[in-house]
Amino acid sequence: MPQKEVLDSCSSIADLAVLACECRSCGLREGCRGVVFGKGSPKAKLMFIGEGPGAEEDRQGLPFVGAAGQLLDKIIDAAGFTMDEVYIANIVKCRPPGNRNPSPEEAAACRPWLLKQIELLNPAIIVLLGSVALQNMINPQARITRERGKWILKQGIYCMATYHPAALLRDANKKRPVWEDIKQVRDRYRQFFGPQS
Ligand code: URA
Repeated sequence: MPQKEVLDSCSSIADLAVLACECRSCGLREGCRGVVFGKGSPKAKLMFIGEGPGAEEDRQGLPFVGAAGQLLDKIIDAAGFTMDEVYIANIVKCRPPGNRNPSPEEAAACRPWLLKQIELLNPAIIVLLGSVALQNMINPQARITRERGKWILKQGIYCMATYHPAALLRDANKKRPVWEDIKQVRDRYRQFFGPQS
């Protein structure tokens, strides 16, 4: 686990990324190429949280650059957000082997990095992509089918869970609900920050 004093000394996302890249808090780092810290604007007020890097993300060192990432880009664009309005990260920053879900221990080991990332970014809205993000951020028992599309206010941040883009690639019936959820996100964001300039 990163030491509290180390995290406390960090005052920017860029500094935090440098430290996180040295992390060996769980076994995942041994089986991957590197830490996939996050991408997007450090000034973004809208954050997306996924599960963990896949093979392409591990190769490029960036989250959501594979097939699910390309779909996420389309969703973000269709909602009228520009890439400098968003920041994207994952529950775990190292690729779980074979794309399995991260274990609770791995997620717990990575959590201080994510929490500090959220603290420094200070987003107004977080979109939780899929059940791993929902369960790790809100409640381990939460069900994505039940919770998606509902606002959950957590420590002053409006959180909205929706289906993971990889789930949309497997099941086209999930496209409509995701679009409904993202429209709610867009509307609240525009309520907070006004129309696009
Ligand atoms: N799926 C995720 O949850 N995160 C990524 O970065 C890529 C795919």
